[in-house]
Amino acid sequence: MAGVEATALDRLASWEALQAHARSLESRPLAQLAQEPGRDQALRLEALGLVLDLNKQRVTEQTLALLVELAREAGLPERIAAMFAGEHINPTEDRAVLHVALRAPADRVIVTGGRDVVPDVHAELERMTGFAQAVRSGAWTGSTGRPLRNIVNIGIGGSHLGPEMAAIALAAYAREDLTCRFVSNVDAADLISALRGLDPAETLVVVVSKTFSTLETMRNAQAARRWLTDALGEEAVSRQMVAVSTDADRVQAFGIDRQAMFGFWDWVGGRYSMDSAVGLALMLAIGPETFGELLAGFHEVDEHLRTTPLERNIPVLLGLISVWNRSVLGLPTLAVLPYSAELARFPAYLQQLEMESNGKRVMLDGTPVRWPTSPVLWGEPGTNGQHSFHQLLHQGTEIVPVEFLGFTQPIREVGDHHDLLLANMLARAQALAFGRSEQELRAAGAPEGQVAHRVCPGDRPSLTILIDGALTPRALGVLVALYEHRVLTEGVLWGIDSFDQWGVELGKVLAGTLAADLTADGAPAPVHDSATNELVRRIRAARGRAV
Ligand code: F6P
Repeated sequence: MAGVEATALDRLASWEALQAHARSLESRPLAQLAQEPGRDQALRLEALGLVLDLNKQRVTEQTLALLVELAREAGLPERIAAMFAGEHINPTEDRAVLHVALRAPADRVIVTGGRDVVPDVHAELERMTGFAQAVRSGAWTGSTGRPLRNIVNIGIGGSHLGPEMAAIALAAYAREDLTCRFVSNVDAADLISALRGLDPAETLVVVVSKTFSTLETMRNAQAARRWLTDALGEEAVSRQMVAVSTDADRVQAFGIDRQAMFGFWDWVGGRYSMDSAVGLALMLAIGPETFGELLAGFHEVDEHLRTTPLERNIPVLLGLISVWNRSVLGLPTLAVLPYSAELARFPAYLQQLEMESNGKRVMLDGTPVRWPTSPVLWGEPGTNGQHSFHQLLHQGTEIVPVEFLGFTQPIREVGDHHDLLLANMLARAQALAFGRSEQELRAAGAPEGQVAHRVCPGDRPSLTILIDGALTPRALGVLVALYEHRVLTEGVLWGIDSFDQWGVELGKVLAGTLAADLTADGAPAPVHDSATNELVRRIRAARGRAV
């Protein structure tokens, strides 16, 4: 396979040094580390309009220095340069990885395969802008001449999670007279609930699929098409259905004209695509100008990644901390807890970004990795999570590193809500790090029978990203790009291809066979494992089919 090569992590000199260093930290809990002079400043980084506070990680300055050395030895700077140079750093699909081009200013040159892709990106952005303006102004109407007031985005995975997450996050910046709904699941309940109460004459359906062949999206798109044409006739399709894809032929075969298709490119991975035409529904909701602010936020981080030394490079440090927690300390999961109700879907978005990218078991050369890769990422906004799973974070048997995300200002001020929100975020980080000892509990008069139950051992790592100001489109772009490049950093150190997703294929193939078995006219041959055969039989029987 042509292209990039991975250096095995455990053959790097600094890997050995990191293991020894980790052992030396075992006897130094966070409560002790926190007393070290100079630590506070050394582990706090400021850039990009945010503070990254690593003080409550189980690291020291020396840890960071060793991790940076590891990144150098693993060839991270060269891989970052290769990405921006349009090299095929996704070797198993033999593709460039150029989501950074999606937010590059028009005067940038980013070449892959001998072609500067930036003019293509801007041409597509202009088409999106023209369409969004026409819909928002009412110049582009539905087939009956009525303005389009509802947008229904149909897509799944990378064609869903980013736009949906951002539409919720940026709802305060969206036009109030535009409704934006998202459908992803092949469970018809999803489509039914998205279409409930909508007038077909005022509804625009945006079908988003990189491949335009994903089962769920195609079924939902067909059903939405019927919903439109049953009410309005065939002519509704050309005015009220648009597609976002890389496959013009399939779009046309579906019955959507090429003129009504917005494109992107094979060098944009689905989970890295929300800032391409995949974000069309978002652009319709928030407007092209605000969408531009989002792109500017992404681009700031790209520039930071490209030009900042590793020691102060925020996404790189995030990636290195992740490698430390996962592969050196062996912590299996990671909780991302935004203290922002608007970021309710951010953990779900990150799940695909992180786990589809780095949930891999072999290195670039196909040999098994010898260290743990992606953590299981999960999370919920604070303060809600405090009243459900935080108990486990504080006293459970599993240590879960936490990432707290907060904004110094709310989008809209209501009384003291925002201060209470942030106070809770800071308090949780404190409680995780420093806990509460038996002595403290006794001194506070805790009944003896409760002391053991109330002890919080502390020494549980977290980091805080505190963003200056409110959640703006720019800030969201910054946040997403930070995590995109964090994933890149991790993947380079782990020696894996972060940009393919072969593991999801098998389930798709099997689902095809099982769908045929569930719906066949006659009883299907029992070709599966016996348990599956029995479940097929029961489902068929329940649905009135021959068994
Ligand atoms: O099943 C995984 C996946 O291929 C993701 O990588 C992708 O984001 C999603 O399906 C949707 O794919 P598409 O945009 O081609 O419909």
